[in-house]
Order: sequence, then structure tokens, then C-alpha cells
Amino acid sequence: MVVEHQGALGDEAIGDFKIVARNINHVFHIKRPGEEKRDFKAVENLNLNVKKGEFVTIVGPSGCGKSTFLDILAGLSEPTAGEIFIDGHKISGPALDRGIVLQGYALFPWRTVRQNIEYGLEIKKVGKHERKEISGRFIDLVDLKGFEDRFPYELSGGMKQRVAIARALAYDPEVLLMDEPFAAVDAQTREILQDELLSIWEKTGKTIIFITHNIEEAVFLADRVAVMSPNPGAVRGILSIDLPRPRRVRDIRNSGDFSRLTGVLWNLLHGIEVSRDGDAQAVWPAINSAAL
Ligand SMILES: Nc1ncnc2c1ncn2[C@@H]1O[C@H](COP(=O)(O)OP(=O)(O)OP(=O)(O)O)[C@@H](O)[C@H]1O
Ligand SMILES: [Mg+2]
Repeated sequence: MVVEHQGALGDEAIGDFKIVARNINHVFHIKRPGEEKRDFKAVENLNLNVKKGEFVTIVGPSGCGKSTFLDILAGLSEPTAGEIFIDGHKISGPALDRGIVLQGYALFPWRTVRQNIEYGLEIKKVGKHERKEISGRFIDLVDLKGFEDRFPYELSGGMKQRVAIARALAYDPEVLLMDEPFAAVDAQTREILQDELLSIWEKTGKTIIFITHNIEEAVFLADRVAVMSPNPGAVRGILSIDLPRPRRVRDIRNSGDFSRLTGVLWNLLHGIEVSRDGDAQAVWPAINSAAL
């Protein structure tokens, strides 16, 4: 078990990583009627380096800046300060190299399930027949056969989430950015989707950053778990997950190593780091567990 504390990466090492977030700061300017404008620092000096093909999960209490950071990685918003590099190149906006599954579906309401899934393929100018073949494959994968022609308002929350996942996967981006993608589905579907996502990741070698509130999910999926704390948001520690691969929910859930790692992550989220010889040490002011 390794708990890293990540610092900002020097220029010479940036090319060794698929994704480098360096000293990211984000300030929101808040203006309410009748009040002075004020600044709110949501993220400060956040550093995260992710290798090609790595699966990194991010955990942290509500409001600590996870979605703000993911939006910056996606290029949907620009950081107030700091830089994001993908394959050694500084990014300056959204691009098809990054697939995004946002918190709360974000489907196109005027498009059917199939048309939503084909959206990225249309932008990539994939021909109609190939589009249909690819979208059909992903409709099968997320178990939405028979719902191809439904509109989002005709679907349950879990079904909408599955469309969003299929849409992000269908155009085969190298990087997948996922913001609590399984939060709205029932426990059983969630386990199926976790297994499916891992199996897709094993086959395709994508680099995945996945936000979750669920400690078990964070450990089960990840090569490394980044723990964020708020006020202002930053990555405080990174836990390496040495569970064997390939992993499937039924094989891992009841293992002693899995419980040990979820316990360590719980401690990290509560500001305690436990060393190899069992000594506990506070690493940052404990995060309010009520917010988890
Ligand atoms: N557009 C905005 N304007 C002002 N403040 C914002 C805006 N978006 C987010 N914030 C604030 O920034 C902080 C971080 O928000 P963010 O959505 O990134 O948190 P989060 O970690 O994703 O939380 P959750 O787990 O609840 O999704 C919060 O305090 C939030 O109130
Ligand atoms: Mg969020």
C-alpha cells in the first residue's frame, strides 16, 4: 500500500504522462442582487498526473471541487490559473480525444437514444451504416435494446445514465472523464456497469478519470484513488490499489485485501493516514464525514 502526496510536475516529466494537471486554481465570481461581488476559491494548487491507460478515481466530500476540476480537464471551463496537458500538449478547450459523462446525464432531449449515442460519431463524420453498427453495439452493451427510438424524457434515471455512458464510449475517445456516472442507478445495475466498464477498459486501454462518492466503487475500479478535501479543493493524498486484475465484483467484494483498502481510504477521507507499522497520523484536517 502506498499513499503518495503529489506535487507539481516539472516540464521535463510532462511528456511521460497522458494527463497532467499542474497547479490548478479555480475562482468563481459570485454576484447576488443587492450584494457586493465576491470571489470563491473552489480549487487551489491541485496537482494530478495520470499515466496512459491508468484508471484513477477521485473521492472527496460534496463541494470539494471534483466537478469543477473535471470540467477543467474536459476543457469546458478554463482554470483561473494552472495548466492541463494531454500527451504533453497544453489543452485549450474541449476535443474529441476526451469523452465526458457529466453528473446528471446531459443528454440531448430532442434526440432519441440511438441519436444521442451517435452524436460524437456524426461529429467525427463516421458514415451512416457504420454509425448504426457502432451505436447498436453500445445499445446492447448498456442493455437498452428495444429503447433505441425513445427520447430521454421517456427513460428512467438509470437508463438515461446508461445512454450517457454509451454516448461517451461510442466514439472511442482515448480519455474518459466520468462524473459520478453510476450515482443514479440501483445497486445491482451499478455492479453490472462497474464490471462492464472494467471489461471495456481492459480491452481498449483507455485512460479513465472517474469521480465517485462511493468508497467501495473507488477502490474496486481504480489503479489509484485521489482523495480531495475542500476549502479550497485540492488532492491531499493518492492511494495505490494493488488488487489483482482482471477484477470482477463477485471475486473482489468479499476479499480481505478489498476491506483493508476501503478501510485505508475511509481513514484518508477522515484525515488519518495509517503507516505500514500501524501508526496513525493526521494528514490534514479531517473532512466532515456528514458531507460524504
Ligand atoms: N458556477 C458556480 N458559481 C459559484 N460557485 C460554484 C459554481 N460551481 C460550483 N461552485 C462551488 O464550487 C465548489 C465546488 O463545486 P463542485 O461542483 O466542483 O463540487 P463537487 O466536489 O463536484 O461536489 P458534489 O460531490 O456535490 O458533486 C462548491 O462550493 C460550489 O458551491
Ligand atoms: Mg460534482
